[in-house]
Amino acid sequence: MMKLKNSNKNMENLLVNDINESKATLKNINWNFYQKSTFSPHEVRPFNCRRHHWFPATFIPEIPFTLIEVLTLPNAVVYDPFAGIGTTYFQAIILNRKPLATEICRVAVEYMRSLFILFNPKINFDDLKEKFNKMLKGFNPHEDYISDVLENILINELKHWYSEKTLNQLSFLFIKEASCSDKVAKAAMRISISQILKTASSQDRGWGCVADNVLPKKEQIKDKEVVRLFENHISILLEDISEHLRYVDSMYGQRYKELAGMETILYEDIRECKMIPDNSVDLVVTSPPYPNMTDYVTSQRLSYYFLGFDLVDNKGLKDRNLEIGARSKRSRKDSIASYCKDMQKANEVISKKIKRGGYACYVMPVFNGDNENNRNRKRIIHKVISSMDEYDLIKEDEYERVLPQIRRSHNIKWATLEREKIYLFRRA
Ligand SMILES: C[S@@+](CC[C@H](N)C(=O)[O-])C[C@H]1O[C@@H](n2cnc3c(N)ncnc32)[C@H](O)[C@@H]1O
Repeated sequence: MMKLKNSNKNMENLLVNDINESKATLKNINWNFYQKSTFSPHEVRPFNCRRHHWFPATFIPEIPFTLIEVLTLPNAVVYDPFAGIGTTYFQAIILNRKPLATEICRVAVEYMRSLFILFNPKINFDDLKEKFNKMLKGFNPHEDYISDVLENILINELKHWYSEKTLNQLSFLFIKEASCSDKVAKAAMRISISQILKTASSQDRGWGCVADNVLPKKEQIKDKEVVRLFENHISILLEDISEHLRYVDSMYGQRYKELAGMETILYEDIRECKMIPDNSVDLVVTSPPYPNMTDYVTSQRLSYYFLGFDLVDNKGLKDRNLEIGARSKRSRKDSIASYCKDMQKANEVISKKIKRGGYACYVMPVFNGDNENNRNRKRIIHKVISSMDEYDLIKEDEYERVLPQIRRSHNIKWATLEREKIYLFRRA
């Protein structure tokens, strides 16, 4: 692991490394990462959250892992205000830092909270696997499980997305999850069921259709072996976590216990964030939503139904109304102006949370194509980045990376996005 000295002698409690030394290290890093991994398999290494749950536009774990390791010291407070499924959060945990996350998509919040439960070093993963093997042996393909779950209004919504056979297998899993009283097993089940809902769905035309509630057509409906998918997924999940926990340092158990007694994964709109005190964060690592490009909340529609979070809660407030930059608002006249205003408010709040002398790293897209859309997007990103100093966030450096082809081809909207930049700021 890299060791840099903390030369901020006058700044008490600031757990960051010297800015010039850090910048020299960061300059020499190949941020593309997609060639051969530079991380040894025999030491603590990046944990890939998106391997276990599909979520749009997550960043690769190598980015926060490297930034946290180079810029901060152990015990530093590392915060992701737009946390998604927790890529920054879980690198901070395994690197012996104190993680904090805010997020408005309750599916993502639930994923992070469930994953945190599974990061308990006391779990016996072999016993847990055995428990699931036994449970799955109880599945009888000729039994009707569907009628037991359809009374649940939200689960009822799911019936349009799967064949009857697939829904019957899913219903078996829903019943097992609902009746599971073991917190750890339940957390693993919630993650794995939530993950397979999209893969098993008959809507195979991409997340945009799920986000827009475009139900699969008759000819799209296909049977999927959901119980087998679940079995594979849960075993990969448990193996991956136990493998990563093998290399954490000797303080991990104590730290985990302390974190388990605190609220560190917060369902909060960053613009209104009150639960994180001002001047308390050493490093922010985040990738904010980009303008009019993604619908994070509604892309998770199937998981919202399963987890019992309606897209509308009892106050009539919808998670998607809190979402900054949502693609679904793209045709509104004021969508770009609102995005800029929302990001400025977010940056003002984020900056206040950071200790003076602490750092913020933002991953932002580089739009290059010479069409009007791209020119506008480029202008907006420039506006957001160049206004950071109004909130005392002074730009120190920037690092460019090339996006691998696979991510670019996921979605036609990303086709022109070939590069992104990591901006490093320091709070004055
Ligand atoms: C680019 S994604 C972050 C992905 C994350 N880096 C990861 O790897 O999982 C941006 C996130 O910002 C969240 N978001 C949007 N508006 C928000 C708001 N007002 N407050 C907090 N989070 C918000 C979205 O739900 C989405 O998860």
